[in-house]
Amino acid sequence: MPLPAPAPDAAVVVTGASSGIGAAVARELGRRGHPMVLVARSGDALADLAAELRALSGQDAAVHALDLGTDADLAAARELVDDDRVAGVVNAAGFGVTGRVAELADVQAALDGLVRVNVLALHSLTVAAVGALVRRAAADARPGAILNVSSITAFQPLPGAASYAASKAFVQSFSEAVHTELAGTGVTLTTLSPGLTRTGFADAAGTDFGRAPDLVVGEAADVAAAGVEAMVRGDRSVTPGLVNQLTALGGRLAPRTLLLPALDAGMDLYGA
Ligand SMILES: NC(=O)c1ccc[n+]([C@@H]2O[C@H](COP(=O)([O-])OP(=O)(O)OC[C@H]3O[C@@H](n4cnc5c(N)ncnc54)[C@H](OP(=O)(O)O)[C@@H]3O)[C@@H](O)[C@H]2O)c1
Repeated sequence: MPLPAPAPDAAVVVTGASSGIGAAVARELGRRGHPMVLVARSGDALADLAAELRALSGQDAAVHALDLGTDADLAAARELVDDDRVAGVVNAAGFGVTGRVAELADVQAALDGLVRVNVLALHSLTVAAVGALVRRAAADARPGAILNVSSITAFQPLPGAASYAASKAFVQSFSEAVHTELAGTGVTLTTLSPGLTRTGFADAAGTDFGRAPDLVVGEAADVAAAGVEAMVRGDRSVTPGLVNQLTALGGRLAPRTLLLPALDAGMDLYGA
């Protein structure tokens, strides 16, 4: 079993734990009894969740208010991962920016920030986690597991959210390749690719899921449960929900000449 049973030396570091899917994953792991190390910028929200998790699991829950878009805080997060008591890492921190690139020139800093958090931080923390967990597995035969949060936008380009979808294509491709590289090491990397999920994401991305049919908007707790189950098994990837699985399949297989104009029109639904 790639994510070891809950124990004081089987802590899980969760980035993006102050809200949405990251917080729901932390609750799911807390319910199973893992000690937790929570990372995001919002220290107060992390402290509230940590108190909830300590009551839930009786285990430690540490809080680190870090901005993963900065070099110094990203280095501090790498140190949290490189700890002998850590058996799992969840990279859930991320955000989206919607709008046409031609109209987004004035938010260049936000687009650069998106790549720093969604791509650079996830890559850096994954490389750190792989190094630490593989060393530990080789020395003590203790398994380890990583969960990287991607998106169904990873499976095709997305006009209206071009930089975001490209960042998730990086996450999906990188993570699935590393999953394969890790075969036989005792360490696994699982990619979680949710569809639209009710969290703080839409507000942060400047869009509105209110115009999407209820059928296609999932709940963070369900996404987290599917992700943690897959992480515990060491699966390569999981896309929660039949509608999302069909959308991902369509994104992979549909001819781009047909798909891209349809997506371009569809993104108007979300004001992008
Ligand atoms: N909701 C969806 O529809 C959806 C669909 C597919 C994939 N996803 C992915 O799911 C992941 C979680 O998003 P969510 O939906 O749960 O949205 P959310 O509720 O807005 O949560 C985003 C999390 O990322 C953290 N974060 C953002 N920038 C950060 C930074 N610079 N440093 C550290 N932490 C940072 C936020 O914490 P602070 O603000 O406190 O820093 C927050 O905890 C993201 O990777 C997103 O791309 C979401």
